[in-house]
Amino acid sequence: MPKFTIHIEDTGEQYSCTDTRSVLEGMEALGKKGIPVGCRQGGCGVCKVQILEGEYSKRVMSRAHISAEEEACGCVLSCRIKPSSDLRLKVLGAMKKNVCRPKADTLSPTPHESIR
Ligand code: FES
Repeated sequence: MPKFTIHIEDTGEQYSCTDTRSVLEGMEALGKKGIPVGCRQGGCGVCKVQILEGEYSKRVMSRAHISAEEEACGCVLSCRIKPSSDLRLKVLGAMKKNVCRPKADTLSPTPHESIR
């Protein structure tokens, strides 16, 4: 089964993904924390990305999340596409802040409320 390299433009990270897995499933295999994974069926829109380079096969995506114009520009739901070549992508929408979030140990501690 062919294996392709998915390059995330925003973070410079890359990972391998076979043509039998969705790009989102491959991304989950990265082991990163905080990547929002929703319905995995094209219905919630949290996994929206823009493919900058490469070929992929796609399944039906809701127009509520991907307009015809966006689709023409390479915007897709990563749970609905499978790579058929190496891909270079940019994370969009709700997913971006999680993918680009600094590592947990660089975040400020959360203030605690006192209990009376
Ligand atoms: S995870 Fe819901 S649209 Fe992709």
